[in-house]
Amino acid sequence: MNIFITGAATTIFGELWGVSPRALAKEAVGGALADAGISAKNIQALFVGNMLSGMLGGQEHLGAFFAEELGLGVAAFKVEGACASGALALHNAINSVLSGQYETVCVLGVEKMTDHKPEDVATALMGAGSEAERLSGATFPGLYALLARVHMEKFGTTEEDMAAVAVKNHYHASLNPNAQFRSILTVEKVMKSSRVADPLKLLDCSPISDGAAAVIVSRKKGVQIAASVVATDTLGLAQRKSLIELKATREAAQKAYKHAGITPKDIDIAEVHDCFTIAEILAMEDLGFYKKGEAARAVGKTKKLVINTSGGLKGCGHPVGATGIKQVVELVDQLRGRAGRRQVVGANVGLAHNVGGSGATAVIHILKK
Ligand code: COA
Repeated sequence: MNIFITGAATTIFGELWGVSPRALAKEAVGGALADAGISAKNIQALFVGNMLSGMLGGQEHLGAFFAEELGLGVAAFKVEGACASGALALHNAINSVLSGQYETVCVLGVEKMTDHKPEDVATALMGAGSEAERLSGATFPGLYALLARVHMEKFGTTEEDMAAVAVKNHYHASLNPNAQFRSILTVEKVMKSSRVADPLKLLDCSPISDGAAAVIVSRKKGVQIAASVVATDTLGLAQRKSLIELKATREAAQKAYKHAGITPKDIDIAEVHDCFTIAEILAMEDLGFYKKGEAARAVGKTKKLVINTSGGLKGCGHPVGATGIKQVVELVDQLRGRAGRRQVVGANVGLAHNVGGSGATAVIHILKK
């Protein structure tokens, strides 16, 4: 496609008690504008990815809210798709430029979660699940624990295989100055951490986080957007025919490879949605990198492809509306050769995979150098 990311920036992710969503947004958007070498007056529309601001903070109307806060005074839209809100906002931004309506737009992903009680955050996150799941008291760790259990029973995947995802992603996060967790893990440490939803333990889970990330989308040359695809599935797990895959991921990925004119083998780096360690194993299979049942043993041992160089959701943090944009910022940094100590040599093609709920929304972006 003749459309590009020309600027990209992220704030640090973490428990940012003293920082407001306004300040996070200003830092991320200011960074993306500076990176693109343009000013706010060049922006014709703003797309904001956010999930929880209304439910937790009582603030809705985020398009106009951030357009005012950022001094943009342009057309502005909030896009919500649970934890895929960021990438969904980007998808809409891309289409708005491709339609010819705008030439240069800004996409902001922003979320502030840690100011609220953990039980309130867990309840708000379950807004992304089905009504039956909410009424039965399910939580996202519980739903992904079910997916993990099915994978273990069907393919012999072990808790140690899942722990290896956390170990790898914390190692990558240790090299990322913007990551929430800079600590190295071992499989033993993950195995000994407290059980959250059996078989998932504390260190199998992405954390509760604050953060923002922003990109500038334009017709001017930059990192090329080769594909942007969205697919959906049922909100509830009970309505799915199969629990060994996330169907929306598989469908979106197949279309994205077709649109980009490539195969999974052409991907050098991927930021995948590892909200829980089992989710990265599922993604490795559903994105076509491995056959079903074969990814668990390959974690951290991939030949060419490097997964979640940012540290992923597990190590870098997961401020839900910001995650999909942070993934794209990481790909841009890698493709431009400016990822510092975590730079993957020879990275030419990157894939970002952002998921909402337990797989009801999947958004895939493919970027080329
Ligand atoms: N990974 C690594 N360390 C974590 C962590 C995580 N996911 N979550 C918390 N910690 C650390 C904290 O930093 C803290 O360390 P400290 O004692 O050195 O300060 C310690 O573990 C306890 O943290 P606490 O905040 O008390 O944990 P908690 O029990 O309230 O919450 C989870 C832990 C896993 C339940 C929570 O992070 C969670 O719900 N994660 C999933 C979020 C989610 O569902 N997102 C949507 C995905 S679809």
